[in-house]
Amino acid sequence: MTDFSTIYKLSLVALWCFIHACSSSCPLLECWFVQEKVGRGGGLAGATTQEKTLLHIRKDERDDGAASSRAPSDINPDRIYVITDPAETLCHRSFNPPRGSIKKPQCEVNPFQPQPSSLAWVRSLTENAFSPVYLQADWFSASFHGVDDERGVATITRAPSGTKEHSVILSLSSTTMTAQARLGQPVTLDCSFWADPLSPLSETGFAVEWRYQFRGDGRLVLAYDGKTERLADTLEDGATLDFEALHERGNASLILQETKVQHSGTYICSVFLPYLLAQVAMELEVVEPPSLSIHPSPLPLAVPGQVLNIQCEASGFVPLPVDLSWEFRGADGKSRSLGSGSMSGHRQAWDGTYSQSTRLQLDTSKLDLGRGGEISCVAVHRGGTRRASVTLSVIGFSSPSIEDSMAMVGVALVLYGLIKFASWTFTSSGSDEAAKPNKDK
Ligand SMILES: *[C@@H]1O[C@H](CO)[C@@H](O)[C@H](O)[C@H]1NC(C)=O
Repeated sequence: MTDFSTIYKLSLVALWCFIHACSSSCPLLECWFVQEKVGRGGGLAGATTQEKTLLHIRKDERDDGAASSRAPSDINPDRIYVITDPAETLCHRSFNPPRGSIKKPQCEVNPFQPQPSSLAWVRSLTENAFSPVYLQADWFSASFHGVDDERGVATITRAPSGTKEHSVILSLSSTTMTAQARLGQPVTLDCSFWADPLSPLSETGFAVEWRYQFRGDGRLVLAYDGKTERLADTLEDGATLDFEALHERGNASLILQETKVQHSGTYICSVFLPYLLAQVAMELEVVEPPSLSIHPSPLPLAVPGQVLNIQCEASGFVPLPVDLSWEFRGADGKSRSLGSGSMSGHRQAWDGTYSQSTRLQLDTSKLDLGRGGEISCVAVHRGGTRRASVTLSVIGFSSPSIEDSMAMVGVALVLYGLIKFASWTFTSSGSDEAAKPNKDK
């Protein structure tokens, strides 16, 4: 009974600790404050300054525990901010790794200037000008990358001019910062937004834009004006949003119905409120492992001393490279490597996938292949390892197996018997004949 109550108490304590830990897990983030250099009569375009900054994240204004903790000495006290994030987007454990962990969340803060957008699908948001007094404040835009690599957040925060207590007005988060997709499969690039319902900016509506970027080339994938509920005309096929989830939960995820090789690249999710814009950029990589085929298949019977040419073709894979090698597995079940053979160059097919082959020159006299076994071609690729096999049969093998030896002993015995029998009949008949002349004599 006492045991039971102890366990009960302990679990209550554990539960309390757990709840407490969860509810107070908003992080203290060390970030870079990056802004354009001012002064020096214009100076170099694009020159920036970088300073360390500290952000105390909290989920509401009552929570002031964070502000009391001490700041590291290498941070300018003017660059220490408190950020209230009621949606708790930044309170995810990916931004608050355990103390002492090597990996740290990455973040960058920039001053932000609210301004109306001239984009066709955003313009409707600022049609009816409203009190810009609200905009006269200190605005920051910040981007955060979690320790699990998959999670990213972008925020637009506001602080009454001259104060250092910011509130998140718009936040964008993604759980697919580095996504992978198989060819021909549907893929979802996650992007959800939250807008402070108390802000006058969230009353009007929002707009969503998805852009694609690859090696400096960009194009519009999809644009949606949430105020007029209109989708802009784009040339992109098979890209869509879940409009119900978008209006109900701010889920602006992009759905690509059928992944193609040319979908690999950077996707930028932008969400607009009147005068505000937050963006998250994510990487999509299309990964498809190769299909393998071996020629000739089946292999012809081999005699020792013969050189066999075997070809293995890996096709339909993306991206490069693929690592091809050969293996032999004998009748005894032991595997050994036969090297990588001679690799061809790679070719690209109309659909953007690659193919590459390797040729194995199998000299049956040099290798101890026994009576044969299984020859495999192994392809190691980012998308997984694939293998294909053919059976190799060597006739007139050199090293006999146990059954062979037994058979040989049997054959030898039979032969011995036959010889014995023959010699017996011969000697007996011979002695008869030998005896005859004797008799004749
Ligand atoms: C948003 O919707 C997509 C599918 O449309 C889903 O995969 C994703 O988990 C949703 N994200 C959130 C945060 O609910």
